[in-house]
Amino acid sequence: LKQLSKRKIIITGGPTREWFDPIRFLSNASTGKMGVALADEASKLSGDVVFIHGPVSDSLLQNKKYRMVSVESTEDMLNAVLIELTDDSVLIMSAAPADYTPVQKSDLKIKKGDGEMSFELKRTPDILKNISKYREENSLNNLFMVGFAAETDNTEEYALGKLKSKGLNMICLNDVSQAGAGFGKDTNIMTVFINDGGRIDLPMQSKNEIAVEILKIVEIKL
Ligand code: CTP
Repeated sequence: LKQLSKRKIIITGGPTREWFDPIRFLSNASTGKMGVALADEASKLSGDVVFIHGPVSDSLLQNKKYRMVSVESTEDMLNAVLIELTDDSVLIMSAAPADYTPVQKSDLKIKKGDGEMSFELKRTPDILKNISKYREENSLNNLFMVGFAAETDNTEEYALGKLKSKGLNMICLNDVSQAGAGFGKDTNIMTVFINDGGRIDLPMQSKNEIAVEILKIVEIKL
């Protein structure tokens, strides 16, 4: 289990959607490129890779040799991860699940009025926190969890906070205010923090090159 080749690798990617009515949803700017890059590179290392993704461009998913599971909402994504999860899994959460969902969902299209409009939102489940709890309750002692943090300010402080509060083995920090990093780009710049106190800076390179580096770090830390 110290080798990625012997592990099941579960990768999530893309945004999720939280629908208000049949026409409108709440989502974010994630494209799924980082997730696909990770799944592509992971599938060169392990024969057991599954990519769980929210709505992303079809062209990103063409000609893949690994399994793919398509989901819509954050709750769907949590359930899909739980179905796949095994003690020998490595979970890499590069998805950007929506954090809020409308309290009221309408089966019929909501019509506009003249005045202002407001919606009440409630929190969606935090997938990583739920999986951390599940790992403890079910003694999945080998499960290795990698999170991502896309931040614009106080980047290290927020990333280290998430590493701890979500019970992760490792977190990949993306400063999205830097040129050459973030949503929709083909390149990325990352700092990886490990729960043993380690820190590795990955300079600007393609998302596939970043994926290779992240997987190398996982392999060393397994
Ligand atoms: N994540 C998750 N469940 C959610 C939202 C995010 O598991 N409902 C995961 C992401 O896949 C990512 C990490 O948590 O690996 C990001 O941390 P989070 O703090 O939830 O990200 P933001 O939504 O950007 O949070 P904040 O607004 O607090 O910065």
